[in-house]
Amino acid sequence: MKIGIFGGTFNPPHLGHLAAARAAIDVLGLDKLLIIPAAIPPHKELPEGTPASGHRLAMAAKLADALLLPGVAEVSPMELERQGKSYTSDTLEALHKQYPEARLWLLMGTDMFLTLHLWHDPETILKRAGICAFGRTEQDGEAVFAPQREHLQKSFPKADITTITLPGLVDISSTKLRELLAKGEGAEYLHPCVYGYILMKGLYGTRADLKHLDIPELRACSYAMVQEKRVRHIRGTEEEAVRLARRWGANEDYARRAGILHDCTKYLTGEEHIAICEQYGVPLDDLERTAPKLLHSKTGACMARHIFGEPDEVYEAIFWHTTAKADMTVLEKILYVADYMEPNRDFDGVERLRELAYQDLDKALLLGVETTIQEMRERQLPIHSNTAQAQAWLRDHGVTTEG
Ligand SMILES: [Fe+2]
Ligand SMILES: [Fe+2]
Repeated sequence: MKIGIFGGTFNPPHLGHLAAARAAIDVLGLDKLLIIPAAIPPHKELPEGTPASGHRLAMAAKLADALLLPGVAEVSPMELERQGKSYTSDTLEALHKQYPEARLWLLMGTDMFLTLHLWHDPETILKRAGICAFGRTEQDGEAVFAPQREHLQKSFPKADITTITLPGLVDISSTKLRELLAKGEGAEYLHPCVYGYILMKGLYGTRADLKHLDIPELRACSYAMVQEKRVRHIRGTEEEAVRLARRWGANEDYARRAGILHDCTKYLTGEEHIAICEQYGVPLDDLERTAPKLLHSKTGACMARHIFGEPDEVYEAIFWHTTAKADMTVLEKILYVADYMEPNRDFDGVERLRELAYQDLDKALLLGVETTIQEMRERQLPIHSNTAQAQAWLRDHGVTTEG
């Protein structure tokens, strides 16, 4: 087993880190990549305004999730939990004990590589791990790496060193990035889920007004709240909802915002859902109390209204996007149908639903509702009363799924 170890302060983790992690996994053929935020780096003090270590750990976890390699990329709190200074040699000894059979690879940028001989206990480092240094710019090529590699190999004959230059790698220092963030800039250097986390927690002096975010910021906040694997679906729903709003004359901006936020609470725990409903006075029925995961539409609506300042129309569309209900507004129908048939959805009958969505929105809604009812029956799950009422209301109003 090959394990990559990616340490650093991750203050904050940015696109350069992400690209380096991806390249290392590919070039070294890693089975596992451990992203390990450092507690107190031996070679520098943490700059003022550095978020609490819990935030750096959370952002590093988002970086790991953004790689979309579950089971491969993981974050480890081992250095944050260890008392005193974070020495890489201690980390490698601990990992060697934990994974005695594994080949460890220590990843680092050019600056770190060029000073490696000055680190605490370089002998242990080079005994326990291979070194994978990556250059951040075209200039960080062989000419820079070769003398240091030779020097290290002379001093430590068993040293195993791989160097890679990643042309086009995002070249930004964390120091510069923190300065940009304090001025309300720098989003282009961050993965959206990390940027959204920074905005929502107000880190690095960002002070964003969450109730007046622009669309890219709203997306970032939504993506920061979910797992990366869900983002494609959210993006698809946003785009489909906007297309449907254009087709049916609804407010495109509301459709977009509802699409962006509709699943933002999807990964909360049952207790978290219930706490949000209690906080904002949303009544729960018996079915929802026993299966609080069903509540993500209601808690998502609460976040949209109370955290992001969205209007009632957006609140209601998100609120009803799972169950539907009798007598829905056009925007509510649009989000329900868009969520069902956005381009990443794939199930028997989705093509028919896509066709109907642009021909007759009520027929599409009824088809969606009846598909859900059918599925619930097959899985022997209870049908939500609002879903049954949606079906009855549409049928009473002469809607069918024929034609
Ligand atoms: Fe949903
Ligand atoms: Fe959804």
